[in-house]
Amino acid sequence: MNIGVYPGSFDPVTNGHIDIICRASKLCDKLIVAVGSNEAKKPAFTVQERIEFLRCALSERQDMGNNIEIENFSNLLIDFVKKKKAKIIIKGLRAVSDFEYEFQMALLNKQLDSGIETLFMMTNVIYAYLSSSAVKEIARNGGKIDGLVPDCIKDPIMKKLKP
Ligand code: PNS
Repeated sequence: MNIGVYPGSFDPVTNGHIDIICRASKLCDKLIVAVGSNEAKKPAFTVQERIEFLRCALSERQDMGNNIEIENFSNLLIDFVKKKKAKIIIKGLRAVSDFEYEFQMALLNKQLDSGIETLFMMTNVIYAYLSSSAVKEIARNGGKIDGLVPDCIKDPIMKKLKP
């Protein structure tokens, strides 16, 4: 079975992430969306909230396969990937600015386990400008996040972040 892991903070999930999940799920028998606890990054949403957002977002999409699971992980990504018997880590790339960090992560993970490959998927061009940080900044300043995140999570995001 060809299992892929798509890791991220998803703080919160955006339409760009959902697009990658949809496309990546077609390349694997099973895709595990892995929500990193990442407490050092001081996330705006708890792991549980981030998982709920993902569940809600995926359930409102008709075109999503039924081979997607959502889990959380803490500590090293590579240990989670091995535990799940996955062989592929999938990451999205939006711009050259993402590349340096992702390149370092991919090489470090390769050093930790040479049997696991990191594959990069280019963002859909319509989401190239989109990030979780931008969504939070807009929401914190009372702006509209329509079209940036899945419809079903707009209200809970605004409720938590709007001043
Ligand atoms: O959405 P992000 O911020 O790109 O997600 C980052 C995440 C959670 C995928 C990354 O921080 C991660 O893999 N964290 C786990 C720690 C780890 O394994 N680091 C790589 C070796 S130093």
